[in-house]
Amino acid sequence: MEQERKALLTVQDLGIDFGGLTAVNSLNLTVYDKEIAGLIGPNGAGKTTVFNMLTKVYEPTRGTILFDGQDTANQSVVDMSRAGIARTFQNIRLFSKLSVLDNVKAGFHNREAYSPASAVLRLPVFRKKEAVIEEEALKLLSIFSLSEEKDTLASNLPYGAQRRLEIARALATKPKLLLLDEPAAGMNPQETEELMDMIRSVRDRFAIAILLIEHDMKLVMGICERITVLNYGMMLAEGTPEEIRSNPDVIKAYLGE
Ligand SMILES: Nc1ncnc2c1ncn2[C@@H]1O[C@H](COP(=O)(O)OP(=O)(O)OP(=O)(O)O)[C@@H](O)[C@H]1O
Ligand SMILES: [Mg+2]
Repeated sequence: MEQERKALLTVQDLGIDFGGLTAVNSLNLTVYDKEIAGLIGPNGAGKTTVFNMLTKVYEPTRGTILFDGQDTANQSVVDMSRAGIARTFQNIRLFSKLSVLDNVKAGFHNREAYSPASAVLRLPVFRKKEAVIEEEALKLLSIFSLSEEKDTLASNLPYGAQRRLEIARALATKPKLLLLDEPAAGMNPQETEELMDMIRSVRDRFAIAILLIEHDMKLVMGICERITVLNYGMMLAEGTPEEIRSNPDVIKAYLGE
């Protein structure tokens, strides 16, 4: 692996308490530019809570999050999205009453800024941007094998396709870092296999970093360059898939459940 890669995300000594419960403590994590990194651990280990801190759904109790060279203390959810962090959710969140295409276009609208007046009056500047957005949205749908479903209501898509649509919509915000919370949950082995290829091609094509939470070990070990293991909110191990697979503490944490 290249040694001189730039750190995009640096998390130092991160922690959060909910009342008396310490959900995450003393987490150190680095994600490099264009890297696919993994965050794994048994149920309740604190993985989703880490994503909620990285996106500022929760303000951390302790520690620092540096993203793209900036300290993110006191930044909001919207600030983090603008800075270039996008995510998907463990429980899929889509605009169920919108079409597949409109779900992705909504992602673009999150960052395109034009005055409400130009939109209402459908001024040329608005129409031109709309055309570009539509074209880019269709491109994303094609990457995720959703072109034929573009006019389908999101809620009518099969489960695996909904998960892919959520990733497409997250990419529409043009992130530098994409956080995927159990992207393969509920997918069959073939869908999982296809998803792995899509995640790889997204990284290559958009030159972004990806941090993924996943229980499917075949997926994690197959695509992550480095993996961090959480257990009871604490870091248990960090290393390459080979190092993690043979780490006795990790084996014990998983088998000891
Ligand atoms: N808002 C909250 N208030 C109180 N406790 C919370 C809150 N959010 C998370 N927790 C607690 O933090 C711990 C970690 O939860 P989290 O959802 O991050 O685990 P996880 O590793 O994502 O688990 P899973 O694999 O089941 O998704 C759990 O004990 C959970 O109950
Ligand atoms: Mg979770």
